[in-house]
Formats: sequence, structure tokens, C-alpha cells
Amino acid sequence: MFNRRSFNKILSALLVSPLMSCQSNPKDNASHKPLVLSTWNNKEANLIAYQILKENPSSILDAIEKAVNSVESNPLDVSVGYGGSPDSSGNVTLDACIMDHNGNAGSVCFLKDIKNAVSVARKVMENSPHVMLCGQGAKEFALLNGFTVFDLLTPQSKNKFLKWKEKAVFEPEINSERHDTIGLLAINSLSNLSGACSTSGLSYKLPGRVGDSPIIGSGLYVDNEVGASTATGYGELVMQSCSSFLIVELMRSGMTPMIACKEAIKRISLRTDIENKQVGLLALDKLGQVGAFALRRGFNYTVADINGLQTLESEYFL
Ligand code: GLY
Repeated sequence: MFNRRSFNKILSALLVSPLMSCQSNPKDNASHKPLVLSTWNNKEANLIAYQILKENPSSILDAIEKAVNSVESNPLDVSVGYGGSPDSSGNVTLDACIMDHNGNAGSVCFLKDIKNAVSVARKVMENSPHVMLCGQGAKEFALLNGFTVFDLLTPQSKNKFLKWKEKAVFEPEINSERHDTIGLLAINSLSNLSGACSTSGLSYKLPGRVGDSPIIGSGLYVDNEVGASTATGYGELVMQSCSSFLIVELMRSGMTPMIACKEAIKRISLRTDIENKQVGLLALDKLGQVGAFALRRGFNYTVADINGLQTLESEYFL
């Protein structure tokens, strides 16, 4: 059972372990399952997932969901869940998805007034005949499944929005707060893969805008025979190239996770509309090998495995 004391114990153990770069000798990770990989500096989330996976490998979806919930519930995180930036009309709208090792997927987009979007996505996957629910339908489904209405706007995000309103220019920040979407992938000791993705989307987006994060194949893709991938950054660029699906297919054709991420970024880099935009991509294969690549400097990612817990700067193209 996860609790704060066991969390602190495992955090100390991992932080004093000799840390090894997951990129310097990636094949070593084959024997280092479970492994949790997430976008940005999400140490607490990675540890929550890692501990659950260590205690019960078959609870991989619980591990991923609880880890992503910890970010969604944090009001200080300004781009995911509670405290996330609103759209240009002042409403916080959430996008999230989850995918398991059997190829099942659940997703919600344009979800208002519900804190843990990834948990609603999981309910869509497990309790409905559908993959994706949107807007009012997603909210009604959440309420029917026991979720409660929650005001996602914090006093801080409201003040920031009111200040933005004075000029009202849509100019998303690159590497926003060094923490945009949480995309989290995991492999358990049985070599099963799953993943999830959650975000409040681009700050001050047009009302109704949906990004890459809830789109299966764009913000997240899992194929248990091959590997998994997730994305962060400017969602339009990710959607236009189906980055996560592309990376999994590139791994299927023999590329390592790192080379597959690099190739997917290379394709995005050929576009003419990438100025002032960032994309960060992560991949994890069946061996537990990790890959990361970004369009430009500033993307980092976190790995938890038997070697410890570390946040690494991604390689980048520009
Ligand atoms: N990657 C998050 C978004 O564009 O909404």
C-alpha cells in the first residue's frame, strides 16, 4: 500500500543510489525493469509509479494513473489539471488519455470542472464501449462515474489570466515553466508496457481547442510487442505528424527508442512553422531502453529504475 512514509523511504534509497545515465548504456535497462519514464522533472510522479510497480507488477495502470493524478492535483503545476492555465475565455479545459498493454485506450478532451482527467480517461477505457469522450459528454460521464465538480482555476492562474487579458495575445511560452504536459510510460517486470498523458493544453488557447495529448497515436501510443511513446510541447506539430504512433512504428522497424525519437523530431523540423515552438518526445521499448529527443533546447525528462531516479536534459535538434 502506498503511503507517505514508504514514499520517502524509496525516495531516499533512489536518491543515494549510484545513478547511471539511461542513455550511456541503454541495453543495461533490459534487466532493470520496472522502469518509469516521464516528461519533465516529475520525480514524485515517477516514484509513485515505480513503487506501485515494484510492489505489484500487475498494477501497472494504477501505477500510471496515481502518478499522473499527483501532477493533476498539484495547484502549483500550471499546465496540468488543477491550477492549469485557462483558455482565452478563462475556462480551464483538460485533455488526457491512457493506454494499456492489451491495446485498450481511453481518452477525454475539452473536459471542464473535473480534477483528474486521466482517471476519467481510464473509466472511458474500462466502463464504456468508446475510446474518446469530449466536452459536456465527458463531464456527464465523469459525474455518472463518481467524479465531483471541482473549480480548476486557482487564484494564481486567475490573476495571471486577467493580466494576460489586458493584451490578449496568443504567444505560448517555449518549455513553459519547464513543465508542460505530463506524459508517463512504464514497463513492469513482466515486460508489459502502458502509458498516460494529461494536460490543460496551451495557455489562452481558443475555446474548444484540443491538443495532441488525448489523441491516441499523437500524444501517446503503446504497442506491447514493440514499445511506447509520448509527447509534450506544441500539440499542433505533434498531431500533424502522429509522432507517438510514428515512433512506435520506427522502433518496430528496428530503430532504437533514441533514434526513433530523433527521426520523428527531424520530420517535424522540416516544417516551415516551427519558430518559437517546442516538441519533446519520449520512447520506451520492450527491453526497457529509453529514448528522448526535442526540437530545441530545454526539454528534460525523468527516469526511475533500479539504478535510481534522475532527471536528464534531452538532446535536441535546433
Ligand atoms: N502538448 C499539449 C498541448 O499542446 O495541448
